[in-house]
Amino acid sequence: MSTIDDLFSLRGQVALVTGASSGLGVEFARVLAAAGADVALVARRRERLEEVARELRGAGVRAAAVPADLAADGDCARAVADAESQLGTVSILVNNAGVAPMSRAEKHAREKWESALRLNLTSPFLLAQEVARRLIEARKPGRVVNVTSVLAGRANPVYNAIGYVASKAGLENATRQMAMEWAKHRITVNAIAPGWFQTEMTEHGFAESANVEKVLGRTPMGRLGEAHELSTALLYLVSPASTFTTGTTVYVDGGWTSW
Ligand SMILES: NC(=O)c1ccc[n+]([C@@H]2O[C@H](COP(=O)([O-])OP(=O)(O)OC[C@H]3O[C@@H](n4cnc5c(N)ncnc54)[C@H](OP(=O)(O)O)[C@@H]3O)[C@@H](O)[C@H]2O)c1
Repeated sequence: MSTIDDLFSLRGQVALVTGASSGLGVEFARVLAAAGADVALVARRRERLEEVARELRGAGVRAAAVPADLAADGDCARAVADAESQLGTVSILVNNAGVAPMSRAEKHAREKWESALRLNLTSPFLLAQEVARRLIEARKPGRVVNVTSVLAGRANPVYNAIGYVASKAGLENATRQMAMEWAKHRITVNAIAPGWFQTEMTEHGFAESANVEKVLGRTPMGRLGEAHELSTALLYLVSPASTFTTGTTVYVDGGWTSW
């Protein structure tokens, strides 16, 4: 019988977290480090990544800032190679970076649509492919967690973001396909679907109280989520506690998807 510590320990693992310069990604990096993983932090803002890396090193793990524009050609492969050269083989991938360009569907510029698809759907696939290929060659197990959204399976009643909802829907089903194909290699692939949280992504919209009211009115728990309420779901999905869990989505949404 394993102890609770054994079930949730990530000692000896190397994690790569995208979008680790702000918001939910910082919290994800913190929980992985608290459980003992070494962490590679990926996003565009180098100084922010360095700051988070310094904090994590203070917790006694190795941490590496890996600046990259994941929407740019070649940067996904380069980020994984860079993380690996600094910390070793990546065994945990958290695909968290995302953007949500807004505008009504009939006016949604093709550039907006493509920027959402490139960062929110294509880059998680390319990163997962890169990490999985290395693990398969090395015959090592691994964990992939894709951060989707409650909007992966339904329309957004608060903001107009057609490219965003399409990208998250694609990522949700890509999660299932990768899980199915890589199960035999002991690589699990799951998703976390957050409800609504206060971050850089939502701060502009939440500055309007009518938007907050709409969100809270549709959330059975009647409040926004706290980032630490998501990171515990992540810890479960990447730890030895969940080795038989793959191809699924954990909703952390205060009940948003229950009706
Ligand atoms: N907040 C919510 O209510 C909510 C709800 C559902 C789902 N989510 C999802 O949660 C994830 C995290 O979002 P958040 O709320 O924490 O928002 P956030 O604070 O805006 O974080 C987005 C992260 O993505 C990074 N990023 C953006 N463009 C990038 C690029 N081209 N290359 C590399 N990194 C890039 C940003 O860093 P740089 O600017 O430094 O590159 C930042 O670290 C997203 O996938 C989002 O869709 C959030």
